[in-house]
Amino acid sequence: MEKIIGVVSGKGGVGKTTFVANVGLSLIELEKDVVVVDVDLSTSNLGLQLGFYQFPMGLQDVLEGSIPITSAIYTHPSGLKLVPASISLDYLTKVPTPYRLKSLLNDLRGLILVDSPPGLRDDSMLVLKASDEILILTNPEIPAVTDALKIIKVSREMGKEPMGIVLNRMKDKYELKPKEIEGMCDVPIIGMIPEDKNVKRSLFEKTPVIKYRPSSPASLAFRKIAANLIGQEYFSPRFPRLRRWFGK
Ligand SMILES: Nc1ncnc2c1ncn2[C@@H]1O[C@H](COP(=O)(O)OP(=O)(O)O)[C@@H](O)[C@H]1O
Ligand SMILES: [Mg+2]
Repeated sequence: MEKIIGVVSGKGGVGKTTFVANVGLSLIELEKDVVVVDVDLSTSNLGLQLGFYQFPMGLQDVLEGSIPITSAIYTHPSGLKLVPASISLDYLTKVPTPYRLKSLLNDLRGLILVDSPPGLRDDSMLVLKASDEILILTNPEIPAVTDALKIIKVSREMGKEPMGIVLNRMKDKYELKPKEIEGMCDVPIIGMIPEDKNVKRSLFEKTPVIKYRPSSPASLAFRKIAANLIGQEYFSPRFPRLRRWFGK
């Protein structure tokens, strides 16, 4: 296991699952070994976003102790590995808490991206505890940023300084500016993803946007963030000549 990056948010519905699926796939394009893990146990949909509809074993089975985590890995055609969470409600009452998420994740190989439930309840706290790095996802709107502030505070109280903020669904002038958000949170913004109608279309087509529309604005943003996460320079496909100069 290389590193566990927990993708968390205060508010729900800000785009964590979309982010984990698309950045995971972008990292595969960059030839990284990556596993995406769905720890949103009650409203899991990472598997669905990656086009998996049936998976006999999920994270809940691992948490129950019935199988090792390596038996709950599914491989996307791209090579991206996924540990899904079951979408069956039957598991809700069965999941043992507290469980040792980190020791289970330690058995995986490569870079681990964790899709988290929102908020500050037990399951999201586990993701904070299990992660080596915390990435805060938010929309540039006051309610989402206010909730992000809470999770940043809790993370700091655990001794974990968030590695950065990703702003998703940036749209128009009626929202907080990146500088304002950095000032409020005192955490650097490490990525910005525009509002992009192709994201919704890609859900409908059951294919993450970076595969469905590889050069749409959101896809380019996901690739740029993925490259930054592993310290690589990003060259937009819009500038092919520049890429050739740099031998990319
Ligand atoms: N950049 C974007 N542009 C347009 N729609 C987006 C974007 N990012 C996410 N969405 C939409 O927002 C909704 C919530 O996204 P999701 O990833 O499920 O959030 P979360 O996992 O934080 O609950 C989905 O309908 C998704 O298609
Ligand atoms: Mg989600």
